[in-house]
Amino acid sequence: MSKYDHFNLLGPIYDLIFGKKKDGRIVDLVGLKQEQRLLDIGGGTGRVAVLFSEISQNVFLADPAWRMLAEAQKKGITPINTESERLPFCDALFDRIIMVDALHHVRDQGRTIHEIVRMIKPGGRIVIEEPNIHHVFVKLIAIGEKLLLMRSHFLSPEKIMALCLSAGDVKVEKVHGKGIVWIIMTKIDQ
Ligand SMILES: C[S@@+](CC[C@H](N)C(=O)[O-])C[C@H]1O[C@@H](n2cnc3c(N)ncnc32)[C@H](O)[C@@H]1O
Repeated sequence: MSKYDHFNLLGPIYDLIFGKKKDGRIVDLVGLKQEQRLLDIGGGTGRVAVLFSEISQNVFLADPAWRMLAEAQKKGITPINTESERLPFCDALFDRIIMVDALHHVRDQGRTIHEIVRMIKPGGRIVIEEPNIHHVFVKLIAIGEKLLLMRSHFLSPEKIMALCLSAGDVKVEKVHGKGIVWIIMTKIDQ
């Protein structure tokens, strides 16, 4: 936990502040199919997960902030109250895993990436969306979050890719957007 429980405070008004996820690019990058199972880690109010629940009924959302999860539940998404460093799922359970704008908020990013790689099926895909810390605007956000006493710790895309490669048998690529980066991992099917 950070010094203040920001996301539990923000839960009921988070969607009012940030609105719907406008850029549908992530849906294309994830490529979820109707019969597949997706986990959204650090999924908050479900404003991203809801895009996928239109495709598959098997969409789950993990987040430690109860009041964020309450909003996700209202959207019909199955919420799980847990932290990304220790997820209560067996190995190779999910076809797709996403983590949007959340990696820089977790306590242990290396541990989190290991957990994600553990839970993805062989041949499955993981998409991590993060603000790109190389951009000036994102550097200002990082300073702002420090001033708000948030626990944020932004990693460069290169550092995230290195953590992914050290987490197991995965192929890793990156795709750049406007001020954001998508790190895409595919678990090698041996
Ligand atoms: C900026 S919000 C993003 C929410 C959502 N992914 C979105 O894009 O709307 C960051 C989320 O990360 C969650 N979070 C913080 N620490 C976490 C942890 N250790 N494990 C999983 N989620 C965490 C917060 O509770 C919050 O819901």
